[in-house]
Amino acid sequence: MMRLTPISNLMAKPSFLPPFMFGLLFATFGVILSAKYSSITVDQSALLALKSHITHDPHNFLATNWSTSTSVCSWIGVTCGSRHHRVSALNLSSMDLTGTIPSQLGNLSFLAWFEIHQNSFHGSLPIELTNLRRMKYLDFGNNSFNGEIPSWFGCFSKLQRLSLYLNNFIGVIPSTLGNLSKLEGLNLGWNQISGRIPNSLFKCKEMKFLSLHDNSLEGSIPTGIGNLTLLGFLDLGNNHFKGKQFLRHHPISIG
Ligand SMILES: *[C@@H]1O[C@H](CO)[C@@H](O)[C@H](O)[C@H]1NC(C)=O
Ligand SMILES: *[C@@H]1O[C@H](CO)[C@@H](O)[C@H](O)[C@H]1NC(C)=O
Ligand SMILES: *[C@@H]1O[C@H](CO)[C@@H](O)[C@H](O)[C@H]1NC(C)=O
Ligand SMILES: *[C@@H]1O[C@H](CO)[C@@H](O)[C@H](O)[C@H]1NC(C)=O
Ligand SMILES: *[C@@H]1O[C@H](CO)[C@@H](O)[C@H](O)[C@H]1NC(C)=O
Ligand SMILES: *[C@@H]1O[C@H](CO)[C@@H](O)[C@H](O)[C@H]1NC(C)=O
Repeated sequence: MMRLTPISNLMAKPSFLPPFMFGLLFATFGVILSAKYSSITVDQSALLALKSHITHDPHNFLATNWSTSTSVCSWIGVTCGSRHHRVSALNLSSMDLTGTIPSQLGNLSFLAWFEIHQNSFHGSLPIELTNLRRMKYLDFGNNSFNGEIPSWFGCFSKLQRLSLYLNNFIGVIPSTLGNLSKLEGLNLGWNQISGRIPNSLFKCKEMKFLSLHDNSLEGSIPTGIGNLTLLGFLDLGNNHFKGKQFLRHHPISIG
């Protein structure tokens, strides 16, 4: 019978294991770990999770194209960054997709651009999306998302554009949006948002486009709005504000 030295003996007496073998072991584990947790395969499984949460894809955009036999970087709507070769942009706009956003999308750690406007996505947005710290552009407009606008949107410190128009969002505008110091465009029109406009919003000094029309906002329009000196497009129409109605103001139309 062959006797194998138990692994615990090897660990206890490292002199039996030449140092280079330790190096080899660690290198092997390193490769396995990095392949599993910090490469494009993580992005692939996140996108496959999204695909599995699509319940209706009438034009078979994802059904036929998002195939594991090709790189995710060649999938329709997916763009990879040239430096890291990770998914940096996801654009599934106007594909007539019905589905929900799975928590796994929070694993797309290089995602900076996420655009899914004009589809039928519904449900609420998973808090795991807060992991997407590179996010600059979010457009979820013209879908059927519901629930409150998550206060954790305030975590996207690089966010420049947030578009949630034409959904079923309820509740108030989270005051945490005032933390978005890079925000240039905010579009929350055509929802069922109520309450007052939070004063914190006027901390967003880069704001150029602000659209809150067709909601149930109330109170007076805060004078702090005058602090947004770069504002070129403002639409507050069809709300329940009281007082002077300078609700629409479009000197420049920024798309
Ligand atoms: C998926 O779509 C992209 C963009 O339209 C195209 O370049 C690619 O060849 C398609 N891949 C497959 C497997 O159909
Ligand atoms: C996203 O996709 C839509 C529809 O295909 C297209 O019109 C739009 O230009 C795309 N956006 C970007 C930034 O490429
Ligand atoms: C991705 O996200 C899900 C849910 O948030 C998590 O369970 C999973 O462990 C994550 N990591 C990888 C490598 O897929
Ligand atoms: C919203 O999307 C639908 C198709 O899903 C389209 O017919 C409609 O024109 C869009 N509305 C706006 C305001 O973009
Ligand atoms: C964001 O804003 C809220 C309310 O305006 C504040 O309490 C919070 O400390 C800010 N910071 C972060 C990182 O959310
Ligand atoms: C507007 O700016 C003035 C002067 O910088 C400041 O005192 C005031 O607190 C600001 N208001 C808001 C709501 O940010």
